[in-house]
Amino acid sequence: MKQRDRLRIAMQKSGRLTEPALELLNRCGLSFRQSRDKLFCFGEGEPVDLLLVRDDDIPGLIAQGVCDLGIVGRNVLDEFRLTTGREAAPLVELRPLGFGRCRLSIAVPQELDYQGPQTLEGERIATSYPGLLGEWLRTHAVNAGVVTLSGSVEIAPKLGTADAICDLVQSGGTLVANQLREAEVLLESEAVLAGPLALPIDERGDMLELLLKRLDGVIQVRESRLLLLQTSRSSLEAITRLLPGGPQPTLLAVAGQPDQLMLQALCAGEVSWRQLEEIKKAGAREMYVLPVEKMLA
Ligand code: PRP
Ligand code: ZN
Repeated sequence: MKQRDRLRIAMQKSGRLTEPALELLNRCGLSFRQSRDKLFCFGEGEPVDLLLVRDDDIPGLIAQGVCDLGIVGRNVLDEFRLTTGREAAPLVELRPLGFGRCRLSIAVPQELDYQGPQTLEGERIATSYPGLLGEWLRTHAVNAGVVTLSGSVEIAPKLGTADAICDLVQSGGTLVANQLREAEVLLESEAVLAGPLALPIDERGDMLELLLKRLDGVIQVRESRLLLLQTSRSSLEAITRLLPGGPQPTLLAVAGQPDQLMLQALCAGEVSWRQLEEIKKAGAREMYVLPVEKMLA
């Protein structure tokens, strides 16, 4: 196979992960000549292209070396790792991406008296995740039939083709609509950046390293806020005690007002109105809470 010199990322063509994945890549400075109806998106600024595919195909494309990376649910990645033989190249989770959170759960009909894993003994469970379900059943020493379906898993109990299901749950709406309730959580999932255990050691490797640094910068500051305020030196100690966690604040002098200081603090999470009101009571004035867009340490 001819060596590629551009990095290629596989991601879901249309689904819950598509928009947030594209937004994250944009924040990392990557933009693409959009041809969303096509399979391939050419990267404009950096030598990074996209391949838009079905999410279940993503791990295989990385394992075959067709793509260098993938943005995919942990559920899909783990299922692939459990169900492909040792001949496939090993894949790893390079970064959790913090969006597309959901869980893989076993759900049972609402009226079933669920008493724990043994309730499932001898029952049939419909799922698109036979690998993950099979592993859980072995761990809990439950003998159950696994009915593998590629979709519409939630209607299997009503159709009589299964007694329970094992599927993704996000809001829980699908379960409620089908008179099912969650009985066991098998996996907490979210979108991850997946790649091969052995990363390329050419130009693609350099680009990948750069991309990972940018990703870390974006992920790290996504929830961060920069708090700016003015205070007199006498109130400084009381205010500092109230600041939401994070590194030590920076203090700046205010021209012509030797008693006054500008304080700048990076806060790890959202700063609430209540917190602001408390800090104001301690003597702060002119307070600003700003979102943080990029970080490069
Ligand atoms: C998943 C899952 C459920 C639904 C759960 O399907 O299979 O049907 O989401 O979400 P809820 O708890 O918010 O109702 P998805 O829409 O991701 O499509 P897919 O199964 O075809 O990938
Ligand atoms: Zn799917």
